Amino acid sequence: MHYECQSCGHLTQRWAGQCPGCSAWNTMVEQSGAAPRATGGGYAGAAGTAVVSAADVDVSADPGRPTGLGELDRVLGGGLVPGAVVLIGGDPGIGKSTLLLQALASLVTAGLAGIYVTGEESLAQVVQRADRLGLSREGLQLLAETEVERIVASARRDSPGVLIIDSVQTMHTEAVPSAPGGVAQVRESTAMLVRFAKSTGTSLFLVGHVTKEGALAGPRVLEHMVDTVLYFESESSSRFRLVRAIKNRYGAVNEIGIFAMTERGLKGVSNPSAIFLSRAGASPGSVVMVTREGTRPLLVELQALVDPTSLGNPRRLALGLDQNRMALLLAVLHRHGGIATQDQDVFVNVVGGVRISEPAADLPVVLAVLSSLKDRAIAADTVVFGELGLAGEVRPVPNGEERIREASKHGFKRALAPRANVPRKGPAGFEVVALDTLADALDAI
Ligand code: TYD
Ligand code: MG
Repeated sequence: MHYECQSCGHLTQRWAGQCPGCSAWNTMVEQSGAAPRATGGGYAGAAGTAVVSAADVDVSADPGRPTGLGELDRVLGGGLVPGAVVLIGGDPGIGKSTLLLQALASLVTAGLAGIYVTGEESLAQVVQRADRLGLSREGLQLLAETEVERIVASARRDSPGVLIIDSVQTMHTEAVPSAPGGVAQVRESTAMLVRFAKSTGTSLFLVGHVTKEGALAGPRVLEHMVDTVLYFESESSSRFRLVRAIKNRYGAVNEIGIFAMTERGLKGVSNPSAIFLSRAGASPGSVVMVTREGTRPLLVELQALVDPTSLGNPRRLALGLDQNRMALLLAVLHRHGGIATQDQDVFVNVVGGVRISEPAADLPVVLAVLSSLKDRAIAADTVVFGELGLAGEVRPVPNGEERIREASKHGFKRALAPRANVPRKGPAGFEVVALDTLADALDAI
């Protein structure tokens, strides 16, 4: 008898209210059978695996096979690598099945055999989707099955280049006695599929559900078992879909792929800066920043609304940004800019549903707040980026020159940027204002 955490898979001998592994509450569930015992070095006499010299290792890595969806290739790190295991998460109805079906159809057209395993929808539903998306049925191999042993057996027989599992939460294996959907089932099923992928060089896509809180459901260990974790992060009300690489053994993390939703499925957006910037003109509280998520610069608009507090506690709300970071920036603005917001509600939003995780948004946030507070617009031809330190100093961010080029390319004429990010020779007709402190930034606008 032992207890297993339903969130991280941690095992204990005794029940606990809080998991000692991941600190989640009320996740320990009783499991029948003996706990798996850790094996201690009992391998004496085994032949062992040959050790190789680093000099002899072949490094001509496969760049990956293009999936035919450029934005998907971008988040995968170039394309589909043989034997790679990719977990795709996102809210229900956001487009996971659509994206994978499109990718499969295009890989099949390019001559790669693939199997789409559906554990949620019937074969007819999958075919109807393919028809609606205008995909050719020719060569699309489907399998409606939830038992991993059978899936692996079918895949061994057909040896496809790519295997899609929609979704991993519906899979179960005979090897584990517990109920389907449980942490042990999902983990063991995934492990079995991953072993198959690695031993045969089959590329594997796993669709994973997310919980209400937005985390990938099921055992956290799934993220460690796969090579790449992709995540749909935009809201389902938006016309655009952002797919972000949260982990990637084959490419840059935080890379985002941007798709537009159409009746014909997801279409890659080749010039994302243009869509996030569809604004009429300058208005108070609006600031354009150049962010760099993954490997490409992106122009996005930040909006702030500062309004006198009507109830006791001032409200702070950040959408698409870290809320704690915003609280910190408001403190810096007070201490080093002399501008108080204690009696104001502050709301900040990143337009278009992008999430910005880098500190280059510090300065834009502060200036957007100030612009709203003073009800004065910042010039429409100006972009802003830079990190703000607790001492009120403006700190450089990576790839300043590239950000400035992106702004110039989209018709902006001026940038407020950290001094160390000012290029020696910027784009023609473009002015870069070098900033050392928050006070410099306040002077510049
Ligand atoms: P679906 O791919 O089934 O979402 P998930 O697998 O993540 O739950 O897509 C949900 C619905 O949205 C489906 O009815 C099809 C529709 N849809 C489009 O019409 N166009 C699109 O580009 C996408 C992504 C979805
Ligand atoms: Mg689906």
